[in-house]
Amino acid sequence: MNFELHALSLTEAASEKSDALLVLVSDAYKPARDGFSVLVGQAIKDGDAHTKAGKTLSLYKPPQSLATRVVIVGVGDGSPKQLRSGLVAAMDSIKSDKLKRLVLAFAGPAQMASVRAAVSAVADASYSYTSTKSKGEPRSLQTVLITASNADELRPGFERAVAVVTGVELAKEWANRPANHCTPTLLAKAAESLVSKHGKIRCEVLGPKEVGKLGMGAFLAVAQGSDEPLRFIVLKYSGAAKSVAPTVLVGKGITFDSGGISIKPAAEMDEMKYDMSGAASVLGVFRTLAELRPAINVVGLIPACENLLNGRAVKPGDVVTSMSGQTIEILNTDAEGRLVLCDALSYAERFKPQAVVDIATLTGACVVALGGVRSGLFSPNAALAKALCAAGETAQDLCWEMPMDEEYGEGLKTRFADVANVAGRAGGAISAAKYLQRFTTKYPWAHLDIAGTAWKSGAAKGATGRPVGLLVEYLLAQADA
Ligand code: BES
Ligand code: MN
Ligand code: ZN
Repeated sequence: MNFELHALSLTEAASEKSDALLVLVSDAYKPARDGFSVLVGQAIKDGDAHTKAGKTLSLYKPPQSLATRVVIVGVGDGSPKQLRSGLVAAMDSIKSDKLKRLVLAFAGPAQMASVRAAVSAVADASYSYTSTKSKGEPRSLQTVLITASNADELRPGFERAVAVVTGVELAKEWANRPANHCTPTLLAKAAESLVSKHGKIRCEVLGPKEVGKLGMGAFLAVAQGSDEPLRFIVLKYSGAAKSVAPTVLVGKGITFDSGGISIKPAAEMDEMKYDMSGAASVLGVFRTLAELRPAINVVGLIPACENLLNGRAVKPGDVVTSMSGQTIEILNTDAEGRLVLCDALSYAERFKPQAVVDIATLTGACVVALGGVRSGLFSPNAALAKALCAAGETAQDLCWEMPMDEEYGEGLKTRFADVANVAGRAGGAISAAKYLQRFTTKYPWAHLDIAGTAWKSGAAKGATGRPVGLLVEYLLAQADA
């Protein structure tokens, strides 16, 4: 799919040949006196079209346009949020496998953030998963032409948004794949295929032997219950001088989470194929970095394995020694994400990072707390939390800061090891973060719990590609600074 941005008036946009023309009208719209604008203005004046976000009026081959279908779409105040809801409604109304060329015309000047929201909304609405279907229908949409009177000043934001789409779609692809098509080994191959000709991205993959040598006893404990060998993936993006400290992203890569001996109920267990969405978001970010090549350094770490159960599986009550030297009593084998992450967080120390952000579908408790709207953000570092929140707002990939008081960690105390891997049910998303915090004393750190935001259940079941948008925005803000 190709995105283009052009400085065209509404009438010029209407005389583009296309399968559909979406005319985006905000509350502030003042129709000009040219042919097509008069039509739109009349429809609003007569009360047939509305500027309220999500209201649409469809026309078939109106003589004023060369588009087969024209949809006048209300986008409310024109903010990214309202624009998105308008576009979702409009794209829904023209769902068709014949849609190849689409024109999105801003009636009047557009804001940078709105253009970005438009690119991401159209990509989301036209996405199609095909990898494991015998006759999968790929996305029909080939060209999306975005027009606005002030197109030239919008170009930087537009280009960023298009690059983010490639990352989001890579993340969706890998998160959507079922576990037998997304093993730790295949995930590592996906990472290796990001290694770029321009030499800025490198990748190293460690197996069980190397991980054993590193002393990653917590990661090994999770992996030992499966016949599928673990992989520890190390991606490096070098866009700045060696002396510039990198940001490290750590993505939870559980390619399937059965719960282990503390097995999960059968209902909806299939959704645990998404338990590597954090890892997928790291791959997505690197895909976008390859596109944009900003002057920063980034390291991506992915501990990847299955959480299964065999005769060698780790048992509730087992005590293991993590890479940090801390011993861990594994009271619940279903709290496996924090076990693979804690060793990856210790490994991150060697990069002397300016910041480490881990991304994980870590707790059901976070889904209860925040649902699918905002990811949970946890950090003892106020400046880092603020930067990540701001990035989420700009990218419209929202998160919400959660508390990190010492008291939330008290339930992790145990008589049999330095720390237990679970506390009580209450505040479960926070005690998980408090557990991780014990392994992050050497650098500024933040944790994103994406259990609620990385995918959707129900009719629209599938990966969302979040939080690639947030992470890219955060990283690029550093390049700008
Ligand atoms: N992968 C799950 C978290 C999860 C649950 C993500 C539901 C998305 C939807 C994680 O490994 C897990 O099982 N967490 C347990 C922790 C508990 C045992 C302390 C949970 O949330 O139930
Ligand atoms: Mn689990
Ligand atoms: Zn899990």
